[in-house]
Amino acid sequence: MRSHPPESDPVTALQAISQHRDLDGNLMDKKIAAVEIINVLRPTVAIARYATFAALALHEHPEYRQQLRDGNNDDRELFTQEVRRFYPFFPFAAARVKQAFDWQDFHFPAGRRVLLDLYGTNHDARAWEDPDTFQPERFRHWEDSPFSLIPQGGGDFYLNHRCPGEWITIVLMMKTLVFLTRSITYEVPPQDLSVSLSQMPTVPESRFIISDVVKAVSPV
Ligand code: HEM
Repeated sequence: MRSHPPESDPVTALQAISQHRDLDGNLMDKKIAAVEIINVLRPTVAIARYATFAALALHEHPEYRQQLRDGNNDDRELFTQEVRRFYPFFPFAAARVKQAFDWQDFHFPAGRRVLLDLYGTNHDARAWEDPDTFQPERFRHWEDSPFSLIPQGGGDFYLNHRCPGEWITIVLMMKTLVFLTRSITYEVPPQDLSVSLSQMPTVPESRFIISDVVKAVSPV
């Protein structure tokens, strides 16, 4: 890309990052440019997976379809939050202890590899009533906590490493629901929609195949 920059293409992320020059006119260090490109690719792929799980949830719970089509964004947000809580995506976040510390009855020695169980926390019966039931309404009166709904990491966005892309993810999933319920009609042919818990990140076995896709005559 740097040796053969395209002349007329619209500016893509790849182009912008690889051609970016600092105030002294220098190109970005190759390693930093590579990390920045991955920082665009990774969330794009991640959100596509959540869009797949939103489609799966709609298929498994058709009773919500009409509400999602005719209702408002509050309904879509409840459904989106439950998709993020319920479906497995990224099972855990890993880190290494920098400075030894104690928490409750646990000792964390420096250097110890620690896993934060994201999926388990989202399904912990101490925080969630009936955690293995798909129930978007639970979020209507949810007491927002940075430590119970943690599909994209826990804690505070500003102080810790919680994913700063959470709002973008939620909005794009809501837009996916609008598209699936208002802009097209489709069939879901027989396929293997089982989801493996030993894959990371995971996705339905057959992904989510749709057929007979027809553009809605008058999308609202
Ligand atoms: C399905 C969508 C996504 C999932 C499942 C996801 C998941 C995660 C997880 C688990 C972390 C680590 C949190 C931690 O260490 O405690 C993280 C961090 C991060 N995410 Fe996301 N993410 C998603 C979308 C996005 C989007 C859309 C963006 C940006 C537009 C983004 C940008 C980042 C960044 C920059 C970090 C590093 C934060 C830090 O270390 O301070 N992510 N994400």
